[in-house]
Amino acid sequence: GEDQGVIVVSNRLPVSLECDGGICHSSPVSGGLVTALSPVLTASKGVWIGWAGAPDVEGVDAALRLFSEDTGYTLRQVGLTSEQIENFYFGFTNQIIWPLFHASNFECNFNPEYWRAYLDVNALFAFRTVESGDEDDYVWVHDYHLMHVAKYMREAGDCRRTGFFLHIPFPSVDCFKRLPWRAELLEALLEYDQIGLQTMHDRRNFIRAVSALLPHVTVSGRGQVVRAKIGSRTVKIGAFPISIDYKKFYKTARSASVRKSAQQVHKALPSSQVILGIDRLDYTKGIPHRLRAMHQLLTDHPEIQGKLSLLQVVVPSRAAIPMYAELKKEIERLVGQINGEFSVPGYVPIHYQYRNLSFDELIAYYRACSIALVTPLRDGMNLVAKEYCAANVERTGVLVLSEFAGAAAQLRNGAILVNPFDVEGVAAAIHQAYTMEKKMRQRRMDRMRESIRKNDIFKWVDSFFASAFAK
Ligand code: G6P
Repeated sequence: GEDQGVIVVSNRLPVSLECDGGICHSSPVSGGLVTALSPVLTASKGVWIGWAGAPDVEGVDAALRLFSEDTGYTLRQVGLTSEQIENFYFGFTNQIIWPLFHASNFECNFNPEYWRAYLDVNALFAFRTVESGDEDDYVWVHDYHLMHVAKYMREAGDCRRTGFFLHIPFPSVDCFKRLPWRAELLEALLEYDQIGLQTMHDRRNFIRAVSALLPHVTVSGRGQVVRAKIGSRTVKIGAFPISIDYKKFYKTARSASVRKSAQQVHKALPSSQVILGIDRLDYTKGIPHRLRAMHQLLTDHPEIQGKLSLLQVVVPSRAAIPMYAELKKEIERLVGQINGEFSVPGYVPIHYQYRNLSFDELIAYYRACSIALVTPLRDGMNLVAKEYCAANVERTGVLVLSEFAGAAAQLRNGAILVNPFDVEGVAAAIHQAYTMEKKMRQRRMDRMRESIRKNDIFKWVDSFFASAFAK
């Protein structure tokens, strides 16, 4: 119902805090998830439980109380010690689950200390949840950091309805089976009443893992949502591709100020077309592969030199993990190498930025660039692909999209799909995008925009709840 009480649980709270000497200042973060869930939480005076993103210091609770007064729902932090941040966040979630779930070729650090920290921290989140909200609230837990929360809630006697959504891919059975704690993890997941995955492909992988590792569980049904039976319990398992607030991107892109800054960006980059790449610093995003494709393109098509450049924005992320620090070095070496080889006075092929963008800057970049290069090696969904289309109010942009991004399932009707490992293929796709005529560009962009408009983030929330509350 409209005012069903909801508790959202995620690793990060929807707020960014800056603390100094016991005093914290909060500023809201504006991800798609926050946009979609805030109205639901405000309407039901709900609770959002999460980690404040830094070691627990005095002042955090006061800042969260102030923030809660503004939003109309309560924010409650789960404080973590620096050891827990090390072993749970940097360890188990980001050096085991993240690489393992994204593909078999990324290295995992299967340290048993990390596993124990994962269980401890999940229990902390569960206890926080048990003591929050009302008895008929719905508890919606997000992402790979918190797969054991429902299990610990049950153990503490909390029998409220729970749902889980996995924002990242679910791996193939062969890949998943490498996890030393594979059966425990699957069993814990099945303590939720509903499990949501990004795509049908992820759902299939999940069900295969259940069938291979938990023979006592039977899965039946067809369509968007199927059911797993464990004794007398039933768990719904569905594909719910996440989306964006289409209107917000569209409206901002049309604003006069964004139009003006998009023109300025374009003027400052004197090539006739600019390609945009924007990613968190992460090895799953395929940034070095993409740079090699640019090198290939400039080698194969010397006539393009001076006319087409790449604006690559890399957003700082998880910098304390060695693999991320190494990746940054590799990207910067490749950018230097390509620019050294192909720059001429007045032309630099790759414009590289390592920083965060404001929302308006991001939209201006989307508008200024006539090609978007979204080529992750593996990605749960990839919202940059959808955001680029929504912000493309002129409808003349071309999206080059990895077939290994969850978004490919919905955007194959207009994107040029590529295999990001195929350097020559990506180079050819960029060339195809560069030479594509206006009519064709508009036809393809219109199709993608229409499917995103119809399936926005609010629809995503509705369909998750609709399935959760269906008999
Ligand atoms: C991915 C995950 C999110 C995570 C985000 C940023 O999108 O699905 O759960 O919050 O990356 O990563 P971070 O480690 O900074 O939270």
